[in-house]
Amino acid sequence: MHFFSHKKGELYAEDVPVKELINKFGTPLYIYSYGTLIRHIRAYEEAFCEVPHIICYAVKANSNLAILRIFAELGIGADIVSGGELFRALKAGIKPYKIVFAGVGKTDEEIEYALKNNILMFNVESEAELHKINEKAKNLKKVASVALRVNPDIDPKTHKYIATGLKSSKFGIPIEKALDYYKLAKSMKNIKVIGIHKHIGSQITETSAYVEALNKILSLYDQLANYDMEIEYIDIGGGLGITYRDEEPPHPKELADVLIPLVKNKKGKLIIEPGRSIVGNAGILVTKVLYTKETEQKNFIIVDAGMNDLIRPTLYGSYHEIQPVTPGKKEKIVADIVGPICESGDFLAKDREIEKVSAGEYLAVMSAGAYGFSMSSNYNSRPRVAEVLVKGDQYALIRKRETYKDLIRNEIVPEELL
Ligand code: LLP
Repeated sequence: MHFFSHKKGELYAEDVPVKELINKFGTPLYIYSYGTLIRHIRAYEEAFCEVPHIICYAVKANSNLAILRIFAELGIGADIVSGGELFRALKAGIKPYKIVFAGVGKTDEEIEYALKNNILMFNVESEAELHKINEKAKNLKKVASVALRVNPDIDPKTHKYIATGLKSSKFGIPIEKALDYYKLAKSMKNIKVIGIHKHIGSQITETSAYVEALNKILSLYDQLANYDMEIEYIDIGGGLGITYRDEEPPHPKELADVLIPLVKNKKGKLIIEPGRSIVGNAGILVTKVLYTKETEQKNFIIVDAGMNDLIRPTLYGSYHEIQPVTPGKKEKIVADIVGPICESGDFLAKDREIEKVSAGEYLAVMSAGAYGFSMSSNYNSRPRVAEVLVKGDQYALIRKRETYKDLIRNEIVPEELL
C-alpha cells in the first residue's frame, strides 16, 4: 500500500506531481511519502495492540534523520546495528529505552557508547561478545541488559543473502547452546538477562517460518523460567516482505493473528523490528533517461541512476517495478534499464517490458524506500542523491544532493610524501 499513483496522466507522490519535484530538485531523486510511512506504522500498532509490545524500527532500512524523527514523534523505538545508527536514532529523538542493538561485530567503542546511553538491550550474538559486554559494563560501573540472539535454524525461504536464521549463518547463538549461554550470562556480575531475540531473515512472504521460529524460542523461554530467568522481552525480529512484483506477503495483522496466541499468556513484552515493510513502498527513486541504444541483441535504456544509487537489482537480482513518470499510450519494448556505472552488473531492470521512452523522459523505480538510499555509495565518484519527503501537497528536502566537494571532503593529499 502506498500513495504514489498516476493522476491526470502523470505520477503523483501524494498530492504533488513528481515532475514538480524533479524540476525543483533534479534527478536521480529519492521521494518518500509521509502518509505511507504513518499508515504502515499504524498497521503494526493496530495489529499488535492486544499485547504489550514495542515496535523497534530497523534503522538500516532507511536511516534518514527526518524519517527517524517521524517515527520518534510516534513513540517508535529502534533496532540498530552500529554506533552510527545509535547516533542517528538518538539525534532523531528516539528514546534510548526503546533501542535494541544487534549485530555480530559490535566494537568496544560501540558497546561503550550504547552503555553510556542506557539503551534497552544488547542482542548478543556470541559467547565472546557476552564477555566483552560484561567487561565494558564493569569498567563503566554499569549493568548491561541483554537478550541472546538465538539462531533457531529455520529457512525463511528468501534470498540467501538475506536469510539469517539458518544454522550455516553467522548470526546468533545456536539454539542447542542457548541454555548454556543464558546460564553463563546469568552468572556474570555486570550483565542482566532480560530478553530473547531472533531474526530469521528479510522479505519473508509466509507466516509459517515466523510461527516455527517463535515456537522454538518460546520453548527456550519456558525452560529459562526453570532456571530462575524471567524474560521480560520476546524480540521476534523483523523481516516481513512487501510487494515488489506479485508477491502477496502477509499484512502485519495476519502476522499478529498467528503470533499473538503464542505469546498472549507469556509475561514478556513483544518486540518487533520491521524495516522494509515500513519504508519499502513508501519511497521511489526517480531517474532521467539519458540515452536509448539498440544493439543486435538488446534495447538499452540508459538512465542517470546507477547501482551506486540503488544496488538491490545488482546485488540480489531483485525486481523493482519501473513506471514512466508521464505515461502515454506508446509502443512497448523489452529493454534493459541500465545506469552510467562502468560495470555490466549496473542495471535497474533486465529484459523489462516498458513503454518506449526517449531521452529526457523520466522513470520512477518503485518500492525503493528500503535499502535504497541507505545502501547507496559514491562509486564512480558519483555524489549521493537528494531525498525529499512529501506530505499531502507539501514537501521538503530531507537530504541535499552531494557536491563534488563533498566527494573529497575527508581526503588528504600527504604533500610530505609526494
Ligand atoms: N532486525 C534485524 C536484526 C535485522 O538484521 C534486520 C535486517 C531487520 C530487523 C529488518 O528486516 P526487514 O524488516 O527490513 O526485512 N539489504 C537487504 C535486506 C537486508 C536485511 C538485513 N537485516 C535488501 O535490500 O533486501
